[in-house]
Amino acid sequence: MRVNIDRIQRHVEAIGRFTSTPGNGSTRPSYSPEFRDAYDYMTQKAQALGLQVRIDAVGNLRLRLPGPDDAVPAVFIGSHLDTVIHGGQFDGVLGVVCGLEVIQVLVESAFPHACPIEVISFVEEEGISFRCPLLGSKVVTGQLAIEDLEVLRTDSGESFLDRAKAYGVDPAFVIQDRIEPAKVRAMLELHIEQGAVLESEGLSVGVVDRIAGSENYRVGVTGRANHAGTTPMKLRNDALCAAAEMICAVEDVADSSMSEQTVATVGRILCSPNAANVIAGHVEFSIDIRDVHEDKITCAATAILDRIEAIAEHRGVVCEIALTAKSSPQELAGHIADRIALVAQSLDVPHRRMHSGALHDTAMMGRIADAGMIFVPSRLGISHSPDEWTDYADIEKGANVLLRVVADLAAAKSIMPAPGGQS
Ligand code: GLV
Ligand code: MN
Ligand code: MN
Repeated sequence: MRVNIDRIQRHVEAIGRFTSTPGNGSTRPSYSPEFRDAYDYMTQKAQALGLQVRIDAVGNLRLRLPGPDDAVPAVFIGSHLDTVIHGGQFDGVLGVVCGLEVIQVLVESAFPHACPIEVISFVEEEGISFRCPLLGSKVVTGQLAIEDLEVLRTDSGESFLDRAKAYGVDPAFVIQDRIEPAKVRAMLELHIEQGAVLESEGLSVGVVDRIAGSENYRVGVTGRANHAGTTPMKLRNDALCAAAEMICAVEDVADSSMSEQTVATVGRILCSPNAANVIAGHVEFSIDIRDVHEDKITCAATAILDRIEAIAEHRGVVCEIALTAKSSPQELAGHIADRIALVAQSLDVPHRRMHSGALHDTAMMGRIADAGMIFVPSRLGISHSPDEWTDYADIEKGANVLLRVVADLAAAKSIMPAPGGQS
């Protein structure tokens, strides 16, 4: 059994055309018209294969090949179809498309699967609109309840519930769509690396053993808006200058961290009134802090918040800091990683073990089930950009590894550790 790489490429390119910024990357926020087009496309392909198709109460798309006994735990293959603004064609899409391809090959080969196999496309993985990354996977794994969803808002105040309902789903019923641990045999995700390790080492596949966690903050800085020409430098409370110093402190703390894995980013800033001849009165910015070890995240977050408060005091501005999202780092199942490595070896695919610095829905699924991830190389390590690229020759190798791992897991009466595995 082999995947059909031309079909994978056709699907990736077709979904890439569903963007609100044609010619300038993939922009497909959850619940947008382009997002609906991507769901419709996948639904049509899944229905042609005879799969059961369902969109759950929060908007996750689920494409299921029933098993001979549909009550036994399923093998899940998942990723996401939402994107960042001006993102790439591969982030998330590749995992969903390769999941469907795996099912197609198994169906066409009349493979005797012993359990259901389900492709799940998690909604709002990127957290672009509501500042809550991994929303869909957090909901189905019971880590976000309806009360948590009720308070989510966009920058302009639109509520998550209103947006979801306008799309045609009703999160009030999320509890019914929980995925119980006993219903999952394993979870697998193929994803682009989004870093440069595989390419620089000339490898085609990464076997992920740990996924980073993150803490996200919103910082509000309030100074005093005033005339840019008449206010002497000594008499200003410039919110933007204070924010600039704080942003540099964020970089400095991560840069001087004892952990090489600690990263911290300010990627978003709003300035008010945002006029050339007015001293800024109010600024809001985001902070994203990550590491693969929770204590390192806590340590960096504490240092960053201390520095921000000291700068606010020194500059006479008022500062409010809110934690907007948090996910703990997640260790993935050793026996699944062993199995991926073994299959890669048997297919002569050059590979290595590695951590993921990006967040993934598989980290959430890994809280309730045995989970594994397969990375394929990103050219120049670029992602979250229209320049994102992965060679289809590498995608083919990674997808064939996925196919074999899913087939092994779905064929067995129960999951056994990979023979000769390291853990
Ligand atoms: C998702 O892509 C993330 O790591 O932020
Ligand atoms: Mn992403
Ligand atoms: Mn992704």
